Amino acid sequence: MPILKSLNFRVGFSLLGLIFLTNCTAVKLPLLASERKPGEAPRYLEFKHVQPIFNSRCVVCHSCLESPCQVNMQSWEGLRRGAYHKNVYDGLRIDAVAPTRLYEDAQTEQQWRAKGFVDILNGGDDSLLISALRLTALRTSPPKTPARDSMICYQERKRVKTSGDNVAETSMPYGLPPLSAGENDVISDWVASGAPGPAALPLSTNSLPKNLKNQVKSWEAYLNQSDLNSKLVSRYLYEHLFLAHLYFKESPRDFLKLVRSSTACAAGVTPIATRRPTDDPGPAPWFYCFYKDPAVIVYKNHLPYELSTQKLSWIKKNFSSPSWKASKMPSYSAETAANPLLAFEDIPVISRHRFLLENAEYEVMTFIKGPVCNGSFAVNVIQEQFFVFFTQPETDLMVLDTEYGNLVKHEELLPGGLGTNPGTSKILTGYYDILKHRSGARLLKAQHLQKTFPQGMGLGNIWNGDGNNSNAILTVFRHLDNAKVVKGAKGDLSKTIFVLDYSVFERLVYNLVINFDVFDNVTHQTLTRLYMDLLRMDAEDNFLQFLPSAERLKLKESWYKGWLTEWKLDLLDENKFAKIPAKIKFAPGIDTKKQMVEKILFERMNKKVRGENDGVNWRALNADKKLNSLETELRKIASLSKERDKVEFSQFFDHLSVLIVREQDDTYKTYSIIHNQEHTNVSWILNEDGRMAASEDTLTLLPGVLGAYPNEIFYVDRKDVSTMVEEILLIRSGKHYESFIAKYGVNRMDPKMWMASDLLHSELSRLQPIEAGILDLSRYSLR
Ligand code: HEC
Repeated sequence: MPILKSLNFRVGFSLLGLIFLTNCTAVKLPLLASERKPGEAPRYLEFKHVQPIFNSRCVVCHSCLESPCQVNMQSWEGLRRGAYHKNVYDGLRIDAVAPTRLYEDAQTEQQWRAKGFVDILNGGDDSLLISALRLTALRTSPPKTPARDSMICYQERKRVKTSGDNVAETSMPYGLPPLSAGENDVISDWVASGAPGPAALPLSTNSLPKNLKNQVKSWEAYLNQSDLNSKLVSRYLYEHLFLAHLYFKESPRDFLKLVRSSTACAAGVTPIATRRPTDDPGPAPWFYCFYKDPAVIVYKNHLPYELSTQKLSWIKKNFSSPSWKASKMPSYSAETAANPLLAFEDIPVISRHRFLLENAEYEVMTFIKGPVCNGSFAVNVIQEQFFVFFTQPETDLMVLDTEYGNLVKHEELLPGGLGTNPGTSKILTGYYDILKHRSGARLLKAQHLQKTFPQGMGLGNIWNGDGNNSNAILTVFRHLDNAKVVKGAKGDLSKTIFVLDYSVFERLVYNLVINFDVFDNVTHQTLTRLYMDLLRMDAEDNFLQFLPSAERLKLKESWYKGWLTEWKLDLLDENKFAKIPAKIKFAPGIDTKKQMVEKILFERMNKKVRGENDGVNWRALNADKKLNSLETELRKIASLSKERDKVEFSQFFDHLSVLIVREQDDTYKTYSIIHNQEHTNVSWILNEDGRMAASEDTLTLLPGVLGAYPNEIFYVDRKDVSTMVEEILLIRSGKHYESFIAKYGVNRMDPKMWMASDLLHSELSRLQPIEAGILDLSRYSLR
């Protein structure tokens, strides 16, 4: 690619000549390639020297709970903690394991060693860290196992050191070009000098500018009030914000965490490590405090949430009107604490609902980025792309019909209520109980919908964002085992649509985020997923209830194809709807789903709320928008499927590719090419491959980087875009696609790969300055 060719890249050292060593036993590892002159003294002795290298070359895999061998390189504390061979993501474990969250579950090096973590820094050239770098010299071919599936950790590594086996897997950076000689010098100097870290500071907000420290103090003062109402609201706020990266616009890259601390905030924060945020923090006194996150920000679990003085006033007002009085603090027992409808029953529903809506994108994003860093968990029960709308709080059923609200909160049973480590027999009995309660709750809902909306629900039942809040319409994109949420109706008209009412929205947050414990066992994990499957159908039903009654089941059946799935709909009474008519008038002969979405977007919402029309991708929706010449080109490949348009190419693309277009003036435009893989249904956890409907697949093209795990990077000069688009239109087979990526794609072992990655990161920071974080390359194409 011309852009990359024009850049100069130094390959650290030659791999040739060392190849013969691979199969020998007792291999002596070669020294790291170095730029240092003989006798020259080490120069890079501080953590600040190595950190940029780790950030750009290692954190692209080693971050968050997903870090291979749990080597988390986002901070010095993670490096010092070292490696542990147990995989966090084990949905089949019979017994819950102890959590290993950095900064939370242990603080000192000894504590981590006691938990089984092994050192990777000591031993100079023989340290695990340097050995992993040195092994690249023995590599003859890249690994064939995707990085996320390879877990050859320290025990095996001892064997590797002497036999030379598995070099492809154990040399770092995994399956990517080696570090340069200069970079190697920096790391080996630092390791040789004892791998010193920055001065240990207590977790605090001390490093913030003074005016922001004052703002933090007012938030802490608000959260730590002692009256009952305030304590209940603070508990609610904490549970919804414990994952957030809170920031002030004045210093938008200083991200704060909110925790419960056993020490007063001003004295330095000591997080109380409970498995879930709803667990008992222990005897008072303890405090809600903020601290600045010391780790470098990664895109996949970065959940920015803005704080400001206006926001604090808004929250104060929201939770004091309508006026109310707390009767008691809810218990921390799992049964109560896991059910938000019960635990927070004293806070008016409308205040809770408004709080969720105000930052709905954040809340929905937590389902995905959530406590698990990737949403592999929840995402195989969601569609590839769908729009999300919300109910207007004043007309939400729980708000309007208090009798319903009072009854339903006792009817809902969330899997989190079973507590930690539920017995395996509970998979069946627990699911049975959940289904039983759900049937009761659905019946109740249908009865009360009939009572409250005898004429049906109209557009006024859909939240209009109060005329200025662009959180009112969101789109979720799934990329296999992860997903991305954006504001606006992006991509073409989606197959399925969610309308989240308060109850469904809040239970989604609790099921997927607040109650979910990735270290818990198979029962907890399976029930969480099964419950998500039910909530998804509730959210879809909420949309279908707006359509003419004859259309509801028809449309739903088109989303749930396959005899087993139809049987399941039958069994769960999913083919029944509340007996209310459609209040909205639909024109005959035109798809009612499309009409409904257009009515919401163009009649119910104003432009400020719905944002720009997606002129590149909308086909079913009216895409009335002037496109520039690049967009006009990209539209030629957007939202076309084999079934509809007789084009083959969409199905060959990877889940998420990023296209970087170099303009003539050397600036860049970055687009995400999202492959929407269609399914006959998403109603089951297993056998996803058997439920694909590839002929309906489409591509969505949107500016920016819309996912944390790019599978492919494409480069093209602006003048070549129309040729590239023509070539895409001609792709008819996997072979065609291979030659296409050979021309425009960046191969992971190409020495230019790192430049491409660096460029992508700088573009991400430019385009999404607050949302930006280090991407994850562990899913990058293995070709
Ligand atoms: C593309 C993903 C990826 C990148 C980038 C990457 N690693 Fe790794 N790393 C892995 C995987 C996967 C493993 C687990 C070993 C295996 O199964 O092959 C691993 C294991 C390790 C281990 C071994 C831990 C143990 O228990 O033995 C060390 C040390 C390590 N990496 C260091 C680094 C360093 C230093 C960098 C940056 C120069 C880096 N890695 C970049 C994927 C990556």
